[in-house]
Amino acid sequence: MTFSSKGYAAWLPSDRWQDEQRIEAWRPLLEQIDARMELRAAGPGAAALQELANGIEILTGTPPSLTLKAGSPPVIVLGSPQAAQRSLEELKALPLAEEAYALRIGAASENENQDGEQAAYAILRGGSERGLLYGAFALLRLIDSDPRGPRDLDLAESPRNPLRMIDQWDNMDGSVERGYSGGSIFYRDNRILLESPRIDDYARLLASVGINAISVNNVNVHREETKLITSALLPDVRRLSDTFGRYGIQLFLSVNYAAPIELGELDTADPLNTDVQHWWQRKVAEIYAAVPDFGGFVVKADSENRPGPFTYGRDHADGANLLADALAPHGGLVMWRCFVYDCHQDWRDRSTDRARAAYDHFRDLDGRFRDNVVLQIKNGPMDFQVREPVSPLFGAMPRTNQVMEFQIAQEYTGQQRDICFLVPQWKKSLDFDTLLNGAGCTVKQIAAGKVHPFTRSGVAAVSNIGNDDNWTGHHLAQANLFGFGRLAWNPELESDAIAEEWSALTFGADTPVARFVAKLLLESWPVYESYTAPLGVGWMVQPHYHYAVDVDGYEYSKWGTYHFADRDGLGVDRTLATGTGYTGQYADENRDRYDSLEECPDELLLFFHHVPYTHVLKSGKTVIQHIYDSRFEGADAVDRWIARWRELEADVDPERFAHILHRLEGQSENAKQWRDAVNTYFYRKSGIPDERERTVYA
Ligand code: GCU
Repeated sequence: MTFSSKGYAAWLPSDRWQDEQRIEAWRPLLEQIDARMELRAAGPGAAALQELANGIEILTGTPPSLTLKAGSPPVIVLGSPQAAQRSLEELKALPLAEEAYALRIGAASENENQDGEQAAYAILRGGSERGLLYGAFALLRLIDSDPRGPRDLDLAESPRNPLRMIDQWDNMDGSVERGYSGGSIFYRDNRILLESPRIDDYARLLASVGINAISVNNVNVHREETKLITSALLPDVRRLSDTFGRYGIQLFLSVNYAAPIELGELDTADPLNTDVQHWWQRKVAEIYAAVPDFGGFVVKADSENRPGPFTYGRDHADGANLLADALAPHGGLVMWRCFVYDCHQDWRDRSTDRARAAYDHFRDLDGRFRDNVVLQIKNGPMDFQVREPVSPLFGAMPRTNQVMEFQIAQEYTGQQRDICFLVPQWKKSLDFDTLLNGAGCTVKQIAAGKVHPFTRSGVAAVSNIGNDDNWTGHHLAQANLFGFGRLAWNPELESDAIAEEWSALTFGADTPVARFVAKLLLESWPVYESYTAPLGVGWMVQPHYHYAVDVDGYEYSKWGTYHFADRDGLGVDRTLATGTGYTGQYADENRDRYDSLEECPDELLLFFHHVPYTHVLKSGKTVIQHIYDSRFEGADAVDRWIARWRELEADVDPERFAHILHRLEGQSENAKQWRDAVNTYFYRKSGIPDERERTVYA
């Protein structure tokens, strides 16, 4: 780690423990490391060893002694090798999947050696070097988040999701689309920043939470990024691939569907044209010759004015299969995005519904995609709003690989100025029962490949990092990157466990600051929702910019994003009987629930129904009173956080105290602006006063 900021090390070890007793308690386990693995300098096994040794030195102030011998399967023994002996044989014989690890800690007094000293040991065994690396980071997390010292443990873990991918939206000019934490760590002035130590440290951060794939450029592939697949830039792409490969992360590129034209080599990109097919075959062979571990392509086609197969009267299966056929001989994948909709809609036309688009475009193509095509589907049918239902396309194509796409970057959720811990939101999607294959057919089961026999399923997410010293702009926004990785590894983890783990690793285990930060994180999504757009309606933001309130900002636009507020009520009627029929894209029981005014969950009411302001919610409040109350409550909650944070000044370093206070004060202003603008808007529309007579502007 090369930067001085408190945030740069993120959740990885950064400071020596202050408690000497804690160091003494861990010392028998951490003073000696014996490793057995293939002796390769640049593999994940070497990285595992290095991370453990460095981490231990940072936390305890003493470097462990190190021995390394050839051996298979890869194993690291910490502490007393004699005490570890019996367990070691058992663990070596354990069948483990490639990405899995097993960890056993023996801390009990029966491990005393002849001199009566406690002979603690830990054994880490990987299913492969990659598994070993995940285990090494898990062990570091365990050591650094539990102040009590070693305790007996026997654990075997493997990731639930085969693909755990991060998408960078970085441009080669150094900007980041929807980036809220500085510029790109990958590019500047149309060059790849090979000399940047941050890329290496980013790979470490991602591997530490189990990420195994990354796409390193924006899905909107502009002129310069189109050249990433040319001979001039492939050697640099190779270096990036090697950096991430060392941490077990496979490198992908977003490609321009019209690359053959854009690069001046053909005058068509028609997927059924043989010249185009040969062009991509040659291109992919060239890429793999230069970048042998290349993962494949991410493609945004026929979406928001990007080129795609529609230009040639072809469909998305034709388009995706063109690239898939070129990649297949090399084992590469096509991550084909389903964010396809009409972005030139007429707001006067109430029959077109953007929410329907992904399903309408893709559902009937099931069975036509090659095995190495993976459809990448945004979690909701619109676009990463604070609250959306789960995309009905997910799980609805039983013969097609799918990953769910989340957005860690807080585009519509506070832009890393306001705190919004998104793990509970993602869990809500992952836990959703699609009921497509009977009960229990949840998104997380489908993503894990448990429902349909997918080998290429999982989760992907848009990254939230940039070259700010603390990576994420708001220091607390790191919890989202951490949380995504942890959840991608195991969607059963609870939100509070993830928040507590991150807070302990970041602010010190068992400290008042860590306790408060975990609580704040858990409150933050409901609070953000409560002062912004109500009851699932979304989109009341300034166009393009997407942070500040503008209730009618998208109301008369071409983007298909409306709330339809009038003097009587608001919301979008998406029911089968009287609306756009979007509800019909769900399995029958979910359709019926969303269709019914009585059964539709309050939090999504305005997503599915147009209701009068006087409609009574399940909470017993009218819609208008809910709007008023929740906006006041949200803004008040932020002020309470500020008061509590001030009380913690003595318990946290000045740098992070000031930084977080400053961001919270900004959030408080934003929340009040939202509160007053939304409340005033609906008071003016409805003429119904706040029954508690608080200040709402006329
Ligand atoms: C959103 C976002 C765009 C992005 C797009 C996408 O619309 O505002 O910046 O390009 O999503 O996911 O492709």
